[in-house]
Amino acid sequence: MSSVPESIATAARALRRDRLTDLFARDPERVTHLSLAWEDWRIDCTKERWTADALALLVAHAEACNLEHWIAALFAGEKVNLSEGRPALHTALRQRDVAPLFVNGRDVMPAIRETRSRIRTLAGELRAGRRGGATGTPIQAIVHLGIGGSDLGPRLVCDALPGPPSGIDVAFVSNVDPADLQRALAGRNPATTLFIVASKTFTTQETLANAAAARRWIAAALPPGRDAGGHFIGVTANVAAATAFGIAESDVLPLWDWVGGRYSLWSAVGLPIAIRHGYDAFAALLDGAAAMDAHFRTAPFAHNVPVVLGLLGWWNACALGHTQRIVVPYAHGLARLAAWLQQLTLESNGKRVTRDGARVFGPTAPALWGGTGTDSQHAFFQWLHQGTHDVPVEFVVPVRAQYPPAEQQTLLVANALAQAQALLVGRGGDALRQELAALGLQGTPLNAAFAARECPGNRASTTLLLPTLDAANLGALLALYEHRTFVESVLLGINAFDQFGVELGKSLAQPIAAALGDGRTLPDATDPSTRALVKHVHSLMRKRS
Ligand code: F6P
Repeated sequence: MSSVPESIATAARALRRDRLTDLFARDPERVTHLSLAWEDWRIDCTKERWTADALALLVAHAEACNLEHWIAALFAGEKVNLSEGRPALHTALRQRDVAPLFVNGRDVMPAIRETRSRIRTLAGELRAGRRGGATGTPIQAIVHLGIGGSDLGPRLVCDALPGPPSGIDVAFVSNVDPADLQRALAGRNPATTLFIVASKTFTTQETLANAAAARRWIAAALPPGRDAGGHFIGVTANVAAATAFGIAESDVLPLWDWVGGRYSLWSAVGLPIAIRHGYDAFAALLDGAAAMDAHFRTAPFAHNVPVVLGLLGWWNACALGHTQRIVVPYAHGLARLAAWLQQLTLESNGKRVTRDGARVFGPTAPALWGGTGTDSQHAFFQWLHQGTHDVPVEFVVPVRAQYPPAEQQTLLVANALAQAQALLVGRGGDALRQELAALGLQGTPLNAAFAARECPGNRASTTLLLPTLDAANLGALLALYEHRTFVESVLLGINAFDQFGVELGKSLAQPIAAALGDGRTLPDATDPSTRALVKHVHSLMRKRS
């Protein structure tokens, strides 16, 4: 599976030899052929190393891979997560119509609607100062404890949306490094602080360790006899574990096994969004995602934004052989987009076997990284323009500003467009030589100056223009990336919804933590490198104490 059909491989081989600027000359309608529109969005894929003919081949390949069937199966709640025998029904979480949706013969929509209404009530109470802690003083601060999918999505959205301030401060703690929690708690008042413990499984060691430390922090500050449990809300599919931790059942919001962790921000995992920005903003986020869902479900492949971007991603990785992908949002609020996308794409498609267990022939998900524009321009863009690696870049550009002054937003957008242009056209040739000659340079010094300044260009990028970064557009953007990732998984023939690779490290950490805790050495059968490291950690620990 995922071998590149010969027609596509041939097209890719030919295009590798072309300069991107020549492709514009060859197809005067290239901008029309390779630009997409959705609502007010424009997605410019014209600077990528492909053509309208290549896109047609890719659409035919998607049809041959039964993409239509897989999209229908995803939305219908079929068990697309084959290895775990589950649906992946994150789309149901933002479904607004009243149509029932059955999982194992049971309509899941009533529970989803009820949970939305609990989120609305809880967020409303907290924002209005109507929920008190154990001493009765109103809660004024939320600390959300969770990791991976139970952290990245809500944290990204809380960061991305502009005020107005709710009066309630929302902080996020994910790392088991005690520095994370201690910094978040510094200066806070236990009497007015509420923790959300978000963990689908409620077994994740980092989250449970932070939750236990948070409970000790609350308990230490309470008058004797007062219960710390009221300072905690749980979001989990494991209600029994949350109640065993001490959270009242009425304060546990449900999750379901058919929601993957990295697709869970639309569920009660998104509670901090509703608390920080209001339930209406959370609802607008869901609506934006639902609008993208409808587009993904119904638009013809050649005009379907997640499908075309998924085809492009697969083409770049599998046909052109790019091993990296860079995402640069020109929006300060999207500083965490790359981190969220890393989990989404690498946990979903960082696999080496197909759905039926065969080895994937060729690469799967490329490494993904990025940073915000314009900061990234002053960090790694030198490498993009003149380094030896050739990595496609995705520019994500909300056009209208969240904050004044307008001139700064103009500068921001101009920089995004200019960077994409610079990657395409580069700098060099006679114009640069003449500039240098005009400075009085000639011969060897001129050649050296030319070489140092030349930017080869011919580097691919996509520019995604969205009208502004509000809740609805953000919801659509995140749903777009979810679906694009799914499209890539279908072309790769892999299951995007499991993540067994993360289990090994978790289980190996247990004996190591035990050995570090009581000073024991690891069993002889352990590899010599790890045994030596444990020994050295022991000696460093002894020195400190
Ligand atoms: O990183 C592995 C993982 O299982 C993710 O898939 C998940 O988002 C994260 O851990 C947190 O899991 P939980 O929500 O169960 O605490």
